[in-house]
Amino acid sequence: MELPLFKLEEYLTQWEFKAPYLLCCSDAESISMSDLVAMADAESKKLWETLHLGYTEVPGLPVLRETITSQYSSISAEDVLTFAGAEDGIFCTMHGLLSPKDHVIAIVPAYQSLVDLPKSMGADTTAIALKPELQWKLDLDEVAKAFRPNTKLLVINFPHNPTGANLDAASLDKLIELCRKAGAYLFSDEVYRFMEIDENDRLPSVADIYERGISLSVMSKAYGLAGLRLGWICTKDQVLLKKIQRVKHYTSICNSAPSEILSLMALRAKDKILARNRDIIRSNLELLDPFFERFAHVFRWVRPKGGCIGFPELLLKEDIDSFCKSLVEKKGVLLMPASIYNTPGNFFRIGFGRKNMPLCLEKLTEFLKS
Ligand SMILES: Cc1ncc(COP(=O)(O)O)c(C=O)c1O
Repeated sequence: MELPLFKLEEYLTQWEFKAPYLLCCSDAESISMSDLVAMADAESKKLWETLHLGYTEVPGLPVLRETITSQYSSISAEDVLTFAGAEDGIFCTMHGLLSPKDHVIAIVPAYQSLVDLPKSMGADTTAIALKPELQWKLDLDEVAKAFRPNTKLLVINFPHNPTGANLDAASLDKLIELCRKAGAYLFSDEVYRFMEIDENDRLPSVADIYERGISLSVMSKAYGLAGLRLGWICTKDQVLLKKIQRVKHYTSICNSAPSEILSLMALRAKDKILARNRDIIRSNLELLDPFFERFAHVFRWVRPKGGCIGFPELLLKEDIDSFCKSLVEKKGVLLMPASIYNTPGNFFRIGFGRKNMPLCLEKLTEFLKS
C-alpha cells in the first residue's frame, strides 16, 4: 500500500494554526467544552461525572450508538460503528471492502481520501468530474457509463466538499438503481448532512434506503466539534460491518471515552446546536452574495446548496496558487487553491461556517483593493 501525500491536510498543517484569518474552514463554529457540558441532559451529565478512563467498547458506547440512530429512519444501534473522526471511518471502510481486483467510481474534486484510498489499495478508479459549467451538477449518464462488471463501489459526497453542490432525491434514487443493478456498494459521505442551506433539500441517508448503502457521518462539521474526533458509519450489511470493525482493530481500536460522552451530549442538544450553526452560515452567506456581486469582475461564484464551503473561480490572469500565497503572506487570510484538490483551473475553496467570517472577508476586500 502506498499512500500519496494528503495535500489538503499538509496545507492545513502548514497554515491552520499560523494564519490569523481562516477563510477556508469546512466546519461550523465550535463551542467550548463548558458550554457543551452546560447543555447536557441529566443522563449524559451523570455519565460524564462518573466516567472511568479505561478502554471503551470497540463498536462504540451502546447509548451513543443508540442516540446516533435518531438521525436515521430505519437504522438500529447494531448497524452503527463509531470511529476516531470521519477519516478513520473512510480508511477502515475502504480497507474492509476493497481489493485490487475491484473497480471504484468516485466523484472529483473530492476530499482526497475518498478517491486516493481506493487507488492506494490497487483498485482501478474512475473519477467523474463535477463541472463548473453545469453549476457543479453530477452528470448521471456519465456515472451510468462508468460501471463495469467488477464495479464494487460508488463513492459520493453530498452536500459536496468543496463545491457545496447537492443532489436531488430523484438523482440519488437513480444512483441507487445503478448500484443495485451492478451489485455495487454505495458509500455516501454525509458529513455535511444537516447543513443544507434550504432544509427541504436534505437527502435521505443512503444506509436507510439501500441495502448496500454505507453512510458516513461525524461530529466535526454540522456540530462544529472536530476536536472530539468522533465519527461513524451505518450500514445494514452486518457482514461488511464486521470486516470494517476488524480493520479498526489496526487503527484506533476504540474511541476516546470523554469524546463519547461529549458527543452524546451534543447529539441530544442537536436542535439547539444545529440552529445556532445554521444561523451563522445563513448570515455569512448573506454577506458573501453582495461581496461576489461587487467583485463579479474578479470572481465567478456558484452559490452552495449545502455545507459551509464553496468553490469560486478567480477570473484574473494571476494563477490561484500565487494569489492564495500572497493573500496569506500579506494579509494572513487563508483560502485553499484548487491544486490542493488535484483539480485544474483557477478555483479556490472559501469557508463560511465560522463567526469571524465577516472580518476575514474585510481583510480579503482590503487585499483586493490594494
Ligand atoms: C467530505 C469529507 N469527508 C471526511 C472528512 C474528514 O472528517 P474528520 O475531520 O471528521 O475526520 C472531511 C473533512 O474535511 C470532509 O470534508
